[in-house]
Amino acid sequence: MILMSFKDRDVISILDFNKDDLYKLFEVTDKILPYSKSKINLLPDKIMATAFFEPSTRTRLSFETAMRRLGGEVISIVGSEGISLMKGENLHDTVKMLEAYSNIIVIRHKNEGAAKYAAEIASVPIINGGDGRQHHPTQSMLDLYTIYKLKGKIDGLVYGILGDLKYARTANSLILALTKFKPKKIYLISPPLLRLRDDTKMVLKSSGISFEEVNEVNDILSELDILYVTRIQKERFPDIMEYEKVKGSYRITLNMLRENAKDDLKILHPLPKVDEIAHEVDYSKYAAYFLQASYGVPVRMALITLIFGVEDKI
Ligand code: CP
Repeated sequence: MILMSFKDRDVISILDFNKDDLYKLFEVTDKILPYSKSKINLLPDKIMATAFFEPSTRTRLSFETAMRRLGGEVISIVGSEGISLMKGENLHDTVKMLEAYSNIIVIRHKNEGAAKYAAEIASVPIINGGDGRQHHPTQSMLDLYTIYKLKGKIDGLVYGILGDLKYARTANSLILALTKFKPKKIYLISPPLLRLRDDTKMVLKSSGISFEEVNEVNDILSELDILYVTRIQKERFPDIMEYEKVKGSYRITLNMLRENAKDDLKILHPLPKVDEIAHEVDYSKYAAYFLQASYGVPVRMALITLIFGVEDKI
């Protein structure tokens, strides 16, 4: 497999990266990890613009932390209030301004394709921080890195992806990411109304990976090495009545895990979580989601370092 250069690259979909690219990212993440709580002055002359038109805690703050830990600076748009979009300015002109003021842009937008559109406009690299229900490539990068650190491998494992497989971009991006590897099996666990979307299912089918759609996590819990849970994406339902039909339809409890799960099962969740994992699970040996979120900083530091081509200076 040919390693693509990360230099000056846009990051729009995880499908744009091959297995070797991702292992290169993990290698650089391992090297930069010790600096994720301190500083390494690799980018003193660079500015990152973060433009988040949808809410975020982890993605925006970990990108901004990553850039600052690398010695760079950050300018930020949070929501549409207080900027000239409120005066009728369009996304095109907003992106042109961010391009003029910064060296790299991270964008989150409710519209699918917004990051790709920004990449067509801007001459600086664009990183997709989430576009509607479609892609969240850097979330998948840190998901895979977490699995790699916890299990020492990504291939050969049995995965359960639980929850809102229709609207959750994190779940869809991870499934697409796993098609670059050789999982033993992927269980797609959801209420029938939230089954995996056809576009992602087509890629999964063509990968040849064994997969099965199931309704209840308890039916297959004992087989899993990794359980990836997502919340129901209430904000993406076109009709609140549809949301009411599936609300609270699954929940992971400690009893359930003690009775059925492998001892070394690890639970991941992109967060935020709402009620789909009982609080008592948070401090159990199964929970890996806070560790996973913490890897957001070093993985994004590594990605930015590679995009600016300064990884040899670590
Ligand atoms: N995982 C994730 O995208 O979290 P935020 O919405 O808080 O950025």
